[in-house]
Amino acid sequence: QPDSRIVILGNSGVGKSALVVRFLTNRFIWEYDPTLERTYKHHTFLDEEPTVMEILDTAGQPSPEDSIQQEGNIRWGDGFILVYAINDRHSFESAAALKHQLDHIKKTNVQCMLVGNKMDLLHERHVRTEEGETLAQEMSCAFYETSASDGGEEISEIFYELHRDIKRR
Ligand code: GTP
Ligand code: MG
Repeated sequence: QPDSRIVILGNSGVGKSALVVRFLTNRFIWEYDPTLERTYKHHTFLDEEPTVMEILDTAGQPSPEDSIQQEGNIRWGDGFILVYAINDRHSFESAAALKHQLDHIKKTNVQCMLVGNKMDLLHERHVRTEEGETLAQEMSCAFYETSASDGGEEISEIFYELHRDIKRR
């Protein structure tokens, strides 16, 4: 029985799998391989406690609103990482739609993180940092910008902070 169940949601190609792999292995994969859904169990020591996190890396779909599987995933999860890519405006709009779906299915107190990924692609940026911040505030989610390719501490921080939020709830 995991201590938390975390679901990664967002359009295809935004870097969901890259973020999960970076968190679990500290590596980056360049090859694009549209994922089938996959869960991982992450065993760690967090805040001096043995901790098991279960992570569901979903397959991005063009219209997540219509998917029955998506609804099952949302019911399964305790907390959600909503990912868009800063160079993909459409993925940003989808993140907002996903939050509506979360609220609709979970009803109250949804634990979530809004993540703008691919921040290394600055020259292709189509979503400003302030827009991400504003949307996150509207959603009552925390906000991060990340780069799965550059890595860094903050990717682990997203997963661990979300875990803590779930435990605190
Ligand atoms: P689906 O599984 O199809 O839903 O996509 P996904 O969201 O899992 O995307 P994935 O992690 O497979 O990444 C898609 C492509 O973007 C791959 O070629 C990755 O190498 C690349 N990518 C992911 N994150 C980053 C990033 O932070 N920066 C850059 N430059 N490329 C990235
Ligand atoms: Mg994937």
